[in-house]
Amino acid sequence: MCGIIGYAGNRNAVPVIVDGLKKLEYRGYDSAGIAVFGADGFDVVKQKGRLAALESRLEGSVIAGNVGIGHTRWATHGEPSDVNSHPHVGSKSKIAIVHNGIIENYKRLKERLERKGVRFVSQTDSEVIAQLAEYYYKGDLMDTVIKVSGALEGSYALGIMCLDEPDLLVAVRKDNPLIVGVAEHGNFIASDVPAVLKHTNKVYYLEDGEIAVLTKDGADFLNMDKEPLKKRLETVSWSFDSAEKGGYPHFMLKEIMEQPKVLKDTIHSVMSNGENKSVADGLDISAFDKIVITACGSAYNAGVVAKYVFERLCRVSVEVELASEFRYKDAVIDGKTLVILVSQSGETADTIAAMREAKSKGAVTLSIVNVIGSTIAKEADYCLLTSAGPEIAVATTKAFSAQLVLLYVLAARFAVKLGKLPPESFAELMSEFETLPDKAKEIFEHIDLIQKHASECVVCKSIFFIGRNIDYAIALEGSLKLKEISYIHSEAYAGGELKHGTISLIEEDTLVVAISNCKRLYGKIMSNVEQVISRGAKVLLIGCCPEAEPSSYDGKLSYIGLPEITELFSPSLSVIVLQLFSYYVAANKGLDIDKPRNLAKSVTVE
Ligand code: M6R
Repeated sequence: MCGIIGYAGNRNAVPVIVDGLKKLEYRGYDSAGIAVFGADGFDVVKQKGRLAALESRLEGSVIAGNVGIGHTRWATHGEPSDVNSHPHVGSKSKIAIVHNGIIENYKRLKERLERKGVRFVSQTDSEVIAQLAEYYYKGDLMDTVIKVSGALEGSYALGIMCLDEPDLLVAVRKDNPLIVGVAEHGNFIASDVPAVLKHTNKVYYLEDGEIAVLTKDGADFLNMDKEPLKKRLETVSWSFDSAEKGGYPHFMLKEIMEQPKVLKDTIHSVMSNGENKSVADGLDISAFDKIVITACGSAYNAGVVAKYVFERLCRVSVEVELASEFRYKDAVIDGKTLVILVSQSGETADTIAAMREAKSKGAVTLSIVNVIGSTIAKEADYCLLTSAGPEIAVATTKAFSAQLVLLYVLAARFAVKLGKLPPESFAELMSEFETLPDKAKEIFEHIDLIQKHASECVVCKSIFFIGRNIDYAIALEGSLKLKEISYIHSEAYAGGELKHGTISLIEEDTLVVAISNCKRLYGKIMSNVEQVISRGAKVLLIGCCPEAEPSSYDGKLSYIGLPEITELFSPSLSVIVLQLFSYYVAANKGLDIDKPRNLAKSVTVE
């Protein structure tokens, strides 16, 4: 995790870097820091806590320079503290670095350097990079970076500055993202595109083993043999506004409200001629005898929803695996397996490892990713891109919805190819599918009601989510969203499973959120509702249940109605209510919604 940025240009790097760090803070917010070349060497300011704490330290400070690096940290090695914050500077004050990743052999390297008299000051793995670079430096920063890269094991995206070559900013990566942005007033390195969007939408995507050498006048690229590389300058379609709050109190709320448009854009991307459609059309599903979906967190939950849709439409069995488990389980897959990787960032370490494991076993990989140029987007055999735009809040909302859309279409197209869905039914399904954005908008008419229910939950110790079939799948996401941002304990259960243990947790006034969109299972979920109400629970029923009669439950049952849509697509509507519910619970608790404690958006470590 962690976010890094660097700038070499005509402007003062300090405000440029701090501004960029604001767009990277979602990657970690345990501490932040900045280093620039000052008159007498490196000026380094680093501070435990949020970026705002660093900004306060910088207020009134006179540090300035045209080349600099910055960092926002999600702590792995060493507690969050000033000294463990980046940038790290070697003990000769000659080399400064920022690092995203984990150096697995840092202990060995550190011991070696300590035996040679190098004194370390932090507990981080990253400091070893600065110390090693100083140890190797013999007057050529490029040679040093090549040597350091050869010695490091693990993952890294690095920004490096050297006192003796003050016009240069050098970057290198292995298994962690890094882009190079080219603007009129200077050049950037960054962990992610939003950090540079204010200045440019022209970027290079750095690959593993490539070195970028930036000056204020341009960017050059070399391989590890110091040979020049020609790279393609890409134009990013994301606008600067898309990475701004746009008047909303939090990115999460803005991103929830953007969903009708995201649904529309993603549907368009896969229905009209273009890359997504040709990928979805091009895959020959009959070549596979097994489909595995693997991902982490919410993306995994999207996979669970998809399992119900694929199995219902295609009549093929689908396995959904947590990527962190899949990578180590010696999965039974081969060239006849299609492995679908789902990831907003395209950089989740476990999902990358799962993809590589699948490829090494000969499986065909298809990724569903939001970030163009990310590792998973590039390395998977096929890629479908979600049109969610930059997602900044740590809790995913719009990217999740876009993932569902692509998974639905994929399932429906596969079903036609397998002869399980007649073309007329496909057309019918797709025309219903195209009503999703408008129906999503209708949900916003209930915001006051959702807000009212959420305000009553602030004191809850535990909230349970139940559903059956596809409603259970989306209950998983409702529960994750709630616990992630509100810190209220929560579990999701298949309705039928309650009586096998969980019901013992139900006490007077425990809140149970029941999701009901499967008409054929309405009676079943309502039996579960009765069971928990009779044990004292209060129930919030969410779904399309015209037959629901809250008045006959003595104030114990509340209902939020959803627009009618085929059961298969209903998770896309339920989830918006669940996201808003979680958002308002957290807002009522006054929590830092966009940056929940202990989390980071892009989990690039194991
Ligand atoms: O970038 P990815 O989609 O691969 O991330 C996977 C999970 O880390 C992510 O979905 C996480 O669970 C979210 N914070 C949930 O809101």
